[in-house]
Amino acid sequence: METLRRVSEIRRFVAASRAQSATIGFVPTMGALHAGHLALVQAARAQCRRVIVSIFVNPTQFGPNEDLAAYPRDEAGDARKLREAGADVLYMPDVSEMYGEGFSTSVRVKDLSQGLCGDFRPVHFEGVATVVTKLLLQVFPDAAFFGEKDYQQLQIIKRLVCDLNIPVRIESVPTLRESDGLALSSRNLYLSPEERTIAPSLYRILKSATDDIRGGQAIAARAERAITELRAAGFAKIDYLEVRDAQTLEPITKLSRPARILAAAWLGRTRLIDNLAIEVP
Ligand code: PAJ
Repeated sequence: METLRRVSEIRRFVAASRAQSATIGFVPTMGALHAGHLALVQAARAQCRRVIVSIFVNPTQFGPNEDLAAYPRDEAGDARKLREAGADVLYMPDVSEMYGEGFSTSVRVKDLSQGLCGDFRPVHFEGVATVVTKLLLQVFPDAAFFGEKDYQQLQIIKRLVCDLNIPVRIESVPTLRESDGLALSSRNLYLSPEERTIAPSLYRILKSATDDIRGGQAIAARAERAITELRAAGFAKIDYLEVRDAQTLEPITKLSRPARILAAAWLGRTRLIDNLAIEVP
């Protein structure tokens, strides 16, 4: 596995691969890799001859009071995991390679970036949309792989690729979970042992609400009860717990199209997010 740090180098690698008719799969990440990230690498390997994984802790998607400086970094460990997972290239641009002097362009996906996490992290999705657009244009893969774990992010990326006519296929991968249901996340490293025992109840509470709503219970009342359950489980602050249209993310009151239940809640200083599909019965 090669490690490349410059746009010119990644372009050269992709051009050489294309000259051999190799398809390119791309997995953008911020590092501190876990099995959830590696599931994306596996999905890319299954579909593409060459797999490129990027690690870039993107400063523009962190708010002023968020965990940019503390965000976990482990370049050597990440490189080893990616080598074992069969990635061909680790692409690690630094901040100056990504945002040159005078950088002033930004990608904003209007409606999808509002509500849910967008209400609590005002600069986040503009930062994500801009860096993902840049990464897709730098690498120019056939397919790029994203996790359902970050469901609002996934919908935003699908929208921008469509709106900007970027000829890249966006593939989504189901959320990988611990055996107790907790969605794998780089931020799980922040949890104290006690918080770690509470954390899986986020999944359990969402799952039981999903089953009840599929079974015919009223959406608003059931969501309200789930919020109470989260509070009782020990989540000190609940940013939101909502049921939305699975594609447009618009609020819904009836289950007439595929829906998604999504939540963000805090354990101490750690913000956890999770979401599940609610199929129409
Ligand atoms: P990061 O949080 O490192 O996540 C990289 C990718 O891994 C995302 O597509 C995310 O949805 C996926 N992922 C994380 N946990 C997962 C899990 N448990 N199961 C399956 N997939 C999982 O998301 C970002 O980085 C950044 O915002 C990025 C898109 C790289 C732009 O900076």
